[in-house]
Amino acid sequence: MNWHEEYRKKYKELKEKGVPFFPDVVLLDTIAACLVFALLVYLAAFHPPHLEGLADPTDTNYTPRPEWYFLFLFQALKFFPGSMEAVAAIILPGALLGVLFLVPFLDRGPERHPFDRPLWTGLGIFGLCVYAGLTWAASKSPLANPAEEKRPDVIAGKRLYAQLSCAYCHQIKNEGGRVGPALDRLSDATTDEWLSKHLRDPQAGTPGSRMPKMNLLDDEVSALTAYIRSYNPNDPFTPAAPKLFAENCSACHRIRGEGGDLAPDLSEIGAMRDKAHIQKYIQDPAQFNPDSTMPAYKGQLKDHEIEDLSRYLARQRRR
Ligand code: HEC
Ligand code: HEC
Repeated sequence: MNWHEEYRKKYKELKEKGVPFFPDVVLLDTIAACLVFALLVYLAAFHPPHLEGLADPTDTNYTPRPEWYFLFLFQALKFFPGSMEAVAAIILPGALLGVLFLVPFLDRGPERHPFDRPLWTGLGIFGLCVYAGLTWAASKSPLANPAEEKRPDVIAGKRLYAQLSCAYCHQIKNEGGRVGPALDRLSDATTDEWLSKHLRDPQAGTPGSRMPKMNLLDDEVSALTAYIRSYNPNDPFTPAAPKLFAENCSACHRIRGEGGDLAPDLSEIGAMRDKAHIQKYIQDPAQFNPDSTMPAYKGQLKDHEIEDLSRYLARQRRR
C-alpha cells in the first residue's frame, strides 16, 4: 500500500469518526491564535522594529523603499509606464485577490490532498514563485540615488547649504541667486583643496570677495565641499597620466619646470583650455594649427590614454 492509499484511508477513517467543530476545532484554533499573539508580544518587547530617522522634507536624497513583503508590488510597478500605474497597483492585485476568493467555488472536486489537485496546486506554486522572483528582483534593483545614498557627507552638505542660505547668492540646478557663480558648473580645475580653502575664508583666496566668511567647522567645510563636488565630478586622471606625459610629451613641453622648452609650458593649460579642447588638440593638432610641429597622437596613443592625459592637463592650473 503506497502513501497515497494510506492517506486516503486515514482521511476516510477520520471523516467517519468525525470531530465536532465546537469545541474541538475551535479550541485548536484558539490555541494557535494565542501562540501567534504571544510570539508577536515577545517580538515587540524584545526585538522592536528598526526605526529610521525623523522624516526630513528638505532631504531629497532619501530613497524610499517598501517593507520586504511589499517589494513585489514595487517591482511589478516597474513593468508599467506611469499612465498604467493603476493596472499594476490596483487592478492586477485586486484580480489576484478575487481569484483567491473564488477558489472554493472553482475548485469543487472532492479530493483534498494537494497532489490530487494538480491544476490548483500548480497555480498556487506558480503564484508563490512569481512573488518570490519579484521580491528578489526588487531587493537587487539599484537605489535611485546610489552615490549620494551612501555618502552621509553629501547629505550633511546639502543640509548645511540650505541652513546657511548659500542659495541666496548661488545657483544649483538653476535655482538660487546670481550674486555668486553657479556651483554645479565649476571649472574642471577647481580642486577640493581650493574649495575648502575658499569656504573657510573666501577673502584669503579671492581678495575682496563678496562672499561672507562663515566661520565653518572642519567637518562642515568637508561636507559642503563633498556636496558641491557631487555636482562637479572631477574626472580624476590615473597615476599613468604623468608617466605618459613624461614619456611622450616632456621632450617638448614643460610642467612646473620639468621637461623641454621647444613648446609652450603647460603648467597653466587648465586655466586656458578645457578638457575637450585639450583632448582634440592631442588627437590632431593640425585641426587647430595647420603649421603645428606637434605630432598627432590619434592612433599613436590609445584613446583611453589620450583621455587620461587630457584630464591630467585640464587639472594643470595654479589655484
Ligand atoms: C552674499 C552672497 C554669498 C553667499 C551667502 C555665499 N556666497 Fe559663495 N560666492 C559669492 C560670490 C560673489 C562668489 C564669487 C567669487 C568671490 O567673490 O569670492 C562666491 C564664490 C563661491 C565659490 C567659488 C566658486 C568658483 O569656482 O569661483 C564657492 C564654492 C562658494 N561660493 C560656495 C558657497 C557656499 C557653500 C555658500 C554657503 C555656505 C556660499 N558660497 C554663500 C557670494 C556668496
Ligand atoms: C615635437 C614636440 C612636441 C611634442 C612631442 C608634443 N607637443 Fe604639444 N605642442 C608642441 C608645439 C610646438 C605646440 C604649440 C602649438 C602647435 O604648434 O601646435 C604644442 C601645443 C600643445 C597643446 C596646445 C596648447 C594650447 O595653448 O592650446 C597641447 C594641449 C599639447 N601640445 C599637448 C601635448 C601632449 C599631451 C603631448 C604628448 C602626448 C604633446 N603635446 C607632445 C610640440 C610638441
